[in-house]
Amino acid sequence: MTSLAVGNIGELVTNDPTADDLLGIVQGAALVVDGGRVAWTGLAADAPAADEYVDAGGRAVLPGFVDSHSHLVFAGDRAAEFAARMAGTAYAAGGIRTTVALTRQATDEQLTASVAGLVHEMRRQGTTTVEIKSGYGLTVHDEARSLAVARQFTDETTFLGAHVVPEEYADDPAAYVDLVTGPMLEAAAPHARWVDAFCERGAFDADQARAVLTAGDASGLRGRLHANQLGPGPGVQLAAELGLAAVDHCTHLDDADVTALRDSGTVATLLPGVEFSTRQPYPDGRRLLDAGVTVALATDCNPGSSYTSSMPLCIALAVREMRMTPAEAVHAATYVGARALDLDDVGALTPGKRADFLLLDAPTHVHLAYRPGVPLVAGTWIGGRPV
Ligand code: NIG
Ligand code: FE
Repeated sequence: MTSLAVGNIGELVTNDPTADDLLGIVQGAALVVDGGRVAWTGLAADAPAADEYVDAGGRAVLPGFVDSHSHLVFAGDRAAEFAARMAGTAYAAGGIRTTVALTRQATDEQLTASVAGLVHEMRRQGTTTVEIKSGYGLTVHDEARSLAVARQFTDETTFLGAHVVPEEYADDPAAYVDLVTGPMLEAAAPHARWVDAFCERGAFDADQARAVLTAGDASGLRGRLHANQLGPGPGVQLAAELGLAAVDHCTHLDDADVTALRDSGTVATLLPGVEFSTRQPYPDGRRLLDAGVTVALATDCNPGSSYTSSMPLCIALAVREMRMTPAEAVHAATYVGARALDLDDVGALTPGKRADFLLLDAPTHVHLAYRPGVPLVAGTWIGGRPV
């Protein structure tokens, strides 16, 4: 494999945890890649020679975004539901069932083509690692095939049979939890790394979520959780108690929830595309960071509550609406996203890490929030190769 040097970088974000600043910024930098990994970073003037050269033209280079929460395997859209919401109808978890009906009718080929399109959209916007959940199949067959489709695009696949109780089990949610923790888990586990549940009024309560996470753990799947999205609830504390890698949404938190997050080290993944698209109050990123909680950002890309694939949009919203600094938002979308997925070889550009990076058509990372809605990602590389 040939080596590659990216030189004339105006601002290189390394996320080096030993640096004095949060982002480990090097100005006037170069990045050298060998064997798909970062081999060297430093001042451009000191860079070793490489087989190929890319001139960054004084622009910024950042680690690729790590989108640790998405639901890309689905059919159809819910634009009419979105329009009704913007006219005053409230968001409810039950809308998930609309997408379940359409997803069950879709062929494997249709689902694969749709995920491919969304992953392509993400890469153009700088995402180099994506987690993809099931959760719109909700039968043994449809959950397993959703995960098999997702696996073609990422190793970070998550079994979310406990997304909502499907219509056919409406009268017997306990029987549905038995299905999820039994035959559905068995069929899903070979295609999944993670297990998740939607712990919320209208979806699953804490006991049900605990049963799903415990069964998943026994099958070798690590846990993550949707919690405290639509209102206060027990999910965040359950996630902290179980030592999950991440608990996602975290919109409605009391002081005990914040303390539990801080003490457990469970990553709080904030999903501002959801509050944008459901017209709900944003989670308070500043409060969490000031309390010492580890905060990640992700898109939650799905057809109901957040139909965006754009990490740059989430960064801009986190800065404008959640009182995070541009540096904190970029760190949360890269370095901490990797932590939320228990990955230590992505999310930073230090020697040994996978050479996943993006070139920004701007001099600094600040422009991601300063120039919202502008397609600033000029190129994305995964393992040192342009994608
Ligand atoms: O993360 N919260 C649960 N699941 C998705 C919403 C899915 C939908 O509305 O289709 C979410 O927001
Ligand atoms: Fe979600």
